[in-house]
Amino acid sequence: MPSDTISVTAARNGLRGTICVPGDKSISHRVAILGTMASGTMQVRNYLCSEDCINTLRAMQQLGAKVEPGDSPPNFTLTGTGMQPVAPQHDIDCGNSGTGMRLMAGMLAALPFNSRMYGDASLCSRPMKRIIDPLALMGADIEACGKKPGCAPLLIRGKKLTPVHYDLPMASAQVKSAVLLAGMMIPGETSVHQPAITRDHTERLFEHFGIPCTTSEDGLDITVTGPAAPIAKDITIPSDISSAAFWLVAGSVVPGSEIRLQNVGLNPTRDAIIHVLRRMGADIEICNRVDCGEPYGDILVRHSSQLHGTTIEPHEIPNLIDEIPVLAVAAAFAKGETHIRNAAELRVKESDRIATTVGNLRAMGAHVQEFDDGMIITGGSPLHGATMDSYGDHRIAMGFLVAGLNATGETTLQHCASINTSYPGFEEQMRSLII
Ligand code: S3P
Repeated sequence: MPSDTISVTAARNGLRGTICVPGDKSISHRVAILGTMASGTMQVRNYLCSEDCINTLRAMQQLGAKVEPGDSPPNFTLTGTGMQPVAPQHDIDCGNSGTGMRLMAGMLAALPFNSRMYGDASLCSRPMKRIIDPLALMGADIEACGKKPGCAPLLIRGKKLTPVHYDLPMASAQVKSAVLLAGMMIPGETSVHQPAITRDHTERLFEHFGIPCTTSEDGLDITVTGPAAPIAKDITIPSDISSAAFWLVAGSVVPGSEIRLQNVGLNPTRDAIIHVLRRMGADIEICNRVDCGEPYGDILVRHSSQLHGTTIEPHEIPNLIDEIPVLAVAAAFAKGETHIRNAAELRVKESDRIATTVGNLRAMGAHVQEFDDGMIITGGSPLHGATMDSYGDHRIAMGFLVAGLNATGETTLQHCASINTSYPGFEEQMRSLII
């Protein structure tokens, strides 16, 4: 477990080394869910053993999935239920994870029993109406029982659902996936139209597990034909590009750095952080690229003294939504203005990431203007260390520890235990890179 308060000072001689960041969070949740519905047994390699994904795996065990240790952690063997899960004996704890709760809701809504999902204070304040609405159109009965309207805990009374064509009101892979997972369970064609391309891990895993699913040429319309039981097939999960992003930024901004990141997922719906950092002048090289179901490769990042600001295009936002806090840190070290707009979704993440990012950047002396849907950062002046809250948000904690690696004085982040929701071992890897 990371300690709740972590302090760093500038890495004066740079960050150097080769590391392998943990498995992809989005893919891990989906593998646990689809593997549970699958007929047969599969080897799962490089599953993300973080709190979020362990919670999803435990939930799946309650539904009857069998998990046995593999050759070495974090690998394991998963035996599915062949679309015949059993009713959970206990309420399902989703912890901090919006992905876990929203994706499982799609599947649970179509099962012939009742279930109840709950989470921590952050998760219980995040909007669930966005998945309840489309699932209700399919006939689902989901009650949001939280203190805040439309929020968790969720009581799901399983029903026979009917297919739907749903126009997503926001670019959300979680909402898209909740509808597609429900569609997988029921007879007929269920389709979604998304206003912008979002991460397509569900669709790629559908293909891996033999579930009939098509995507239109422009990538905006996806159709699944059910009922379709996933066919168990071994899988190796690539390292999470959202976790690698902390080192892409740290390596770019800290003088003297050279970091190699191994086997990082390079899915084109997730790689905008690489394109945006390169546009800002970062020195990032991709080696040993392997193009398969989920493409991956090694990434080599070296310090760049030439970083400059950029404008993030609206279509890039869903592709790097989770990387925006650390991208904002990069922007604070880059000369000129960086415009991050059309990103109001950040307000409903694990924390209000516009408010928490802007507040912490200002605490370190950066110039930032806040907008309802984003921020403009005027970078290039040195940052100074500060004591900051991470607001229990893993990406705020890690993003501002990275800022501290290039700031004067000491930087202290409070409430860092949340790092364990996505990146166990972050602090150890950070210390191992400092020379
Ligand atoms: C995720 C989708 C994104 C992202 C989240 C993981 C997923 O959320 O922010 O961390 O695995 O589908 P939205 O789909 O709500 O934008």
